[in-house]
Amino acid sequence: MVKLSIFGAVLALASSVRAQCGSGTPDAKVTGSGNSFTATRGSNTVYSGGDYRAAIQAALDSISSGQRVAVMASGSIGASTISISSGKTFEGCGTINTGWNTGKGAIESLNTDGVKIPYLTMTGGPYFGLRFHGVRDLTLGQIVMNFDTGLGIRFDRDAPWNYNVKIDSVRVTGAGSHAVETFNIDGLEIGQVIARNVGESGLLIQTSRNVRVGLVDGDNVAKGTGYATLRFANNNGQNENGNYNTNVYVDKVVSRGGGRGVFCVSQSGGAVITSVDLANNGNNAILIENCYNLSIRGGTVNGGGEVRLSARNEFPNNKDIWITLTVNGASVRESPCGQNVNWSLSGNGARNIC
Ligand SMILES: *[C@@H]1O[C@H](CO)[C@@H](O)[C@H](O)[C@H]1NC(C)=O
Ligand SMILES: *[C@@H]1O[C@H](CO)[C@@H](O)[C@H](O)[C@H]1NC(C)=O
Repeated sequence: MVKLSIFGAVLALASSVRAQCGSGTPDAKVTGSGNSFTATRGSNTVYSGGDYRAAIQAALDSISSGQRVAVMASGSIGASTISISSGKTFEGCGTINTGWNTGKGAIESLNTDGVKIPYLTMTGGPYFGLRFHGVRDLTLGQIVMNFDTGLGIRFDRDAPWNYNVKIDSVRVTGAGSHAVETFNIDGLEIGQVIARNVGESGLLIQTSRNVRVGLVDGDNVAKGTGYATLRFANNNGQNENGNYNTNVYVDKVVSRGGGRGVFCVSQSGGAVITSVDLANNGNNAILIENCYNLSIRGGTVNGGGEVRLSARNEFPNNKDIWITLTVNGASVRESPCGQNVNWSLSGNGARNIC
């Protein structure tokens, strides 16, 4: 009886989720299966045939800015790319299987305004699942990626900046590289990133500012690498005027196993992490290397690699680091001594701090 009612609740939840994606009257739709797909805009057929990618692109190309496409069909786009232009809403209600298209996203939106992807479920092994640069007012909703290789969501490095990016929830399993990797975003809000069995980082934020993140949760992320469940790098959190006044806020980081838990490197900072829950990381639970104005306000480290403040010679040493933390079954080491480092530690384990 209990089992049945839980099952009923799960079914109700699943059907309400299904009811949302593609609900109402989308301006265009892709339906079909196997090797027969139809794209319609209102009552007009804009594609009919066996090419799933062509059906999706035809639906997208048939609508105007402010309109919505719902892809109800599941299928495979192979090693190809779907492109979304300004003002369009894309709902991936079926499962979109992808292949490796070197340097490209399975779905891309480049130099656009106001694109929305409220729902997306992707499988396979793309070079990038979603790829962006030069976007403004981008909104991503419920994004699920179950991969066997590749990278989840990428904002390009050598490319125009992005402004006002909102991401509600991303869940990535099995990516060979990062779950989410950003460069060059001013104004980034993320509800949660959940990474499972991902090769490199869970959330890697670089050269970005004015960032708010709810939860980053990694299990078996970055195993055997120097990456981390949460990594800040390449001047992340440095303000336009060069200072590091706090502008990056992360509520919580959870990490189990894998490589590092939290890693701040290469002149990043301006950040507050309210709480961490790190256990059995295979590399440093926390590594802070050449970072400025960074605080970790609480939480626990249980076992795993050492909590470490270090520095490379190529950049100025750590400065203005505040760490309040319970560390059990792992050592804490500050070497070399940073500038204005304030530790409030509890728990057992070796301490070698300045
Ligand atoms: C760190 O950020 C806080 C909050 O913005 C700011 O008050 C403080 O001056 C910054 N400290 C340094 C040394 O930059
Ligand atoms: C260090 O941090 C503690 C706790 O946040 C605070 O009470 C204390 O004033 C700080 N010390 C310095 C020297 O900043």
